[in-house]
Amino acid sequence: MDADEAIRLRRSVRSYTDQPVSDKDIDAILRLALLAPTGGMAQAWSFIVVRDQELREAVAEIVIRGGAKYFETVRPAGPDVSPDEHAEWARGYAEQVLGNYRHVPVWIVGMVVPRHAFPDDQAEWERVADLVSVGFAMENLFVAARARGLGTVPTVFHWYAEDDFRALLDIPAEFEIPVITPLGYPTEFPVGLPPAMAAKRRPWRTLVHDDHWGNPRA
Ligand SMILES: Cc1cc2nc3c(=O)[nH]c(=O)nc-3n(C[C@H](O)[C@H](O)[C@H](O)COP(=O)(O)O)c2cc1C
Repeated sequence: MDADEAIRLRRSVRSYTDQPVSDKDIDAILRLALLAPTGGMAQAWSFIVVRDQELREAVAEIVIRGGAKYFETVRPAGPDVSPDEHAEWARGYAEQVLGNYRHVPVWIVGMVVPRHAFPDDQAEWERVADLVSVGFAMENLFVAARARGLGTVPTVFHWYAEDDFRALLDIPAEFEIPVITPLGYPTEFPVGLPPAMAAKRRPWRTLVHDDHWGNPRA
């Protein structure tokens, strides 16, 4: 599979088999992830590969619990639904769409390790550069995984239970954890986006401007 194809065919995968992933594949995709551009060659990042069964099940529980909080927060309750009923719905929905994460064979955790190289008044720029760099590395990882038939999905549901997540994996308080992903063989690779998501895809020309912003590509 060439790079264009791996990028085009990568999809967020939310349904996994429990088929193990080989050490060789894990190492290969991590090494490709670490070839991403990194501000000032700082490599202000670290990755945790979670394979221990108890730990990965605990990661899944945190992600499912966080997902329920996300759905509760982001998807509004109907007019006659009480907050408790809505929270109950969100827990059920998270279970339905994320429950299979309990048998995902690997989780990869992407972290920013602050380098404190910029002066204090530019600390936010450094933070942005390092967050972006982790994002680039994760995208390399997603594409490299796709090329090997492995699924991933950028996931931020751990943000909703971040203290528990840090404690579980011994992540120092000053590290940021912008994104994690399951890694495993999909039950099947989604072809295209779900219809509701596909309908949201904006025509690419409206997102690209020639020479000045406000001059979308004709
Ligand atoms: C920064 C970021 C955070 C995301 N967080 C989540 C998440 O927590 N859970 C999830 O299921 N998908 C998450 N996604 C995946 C998006 O929903 C997905 O990329 C988008 O719907 C497009 O689908 P595709 O990845 O198949 O192209 C995230 C994506 C990005 C870029």
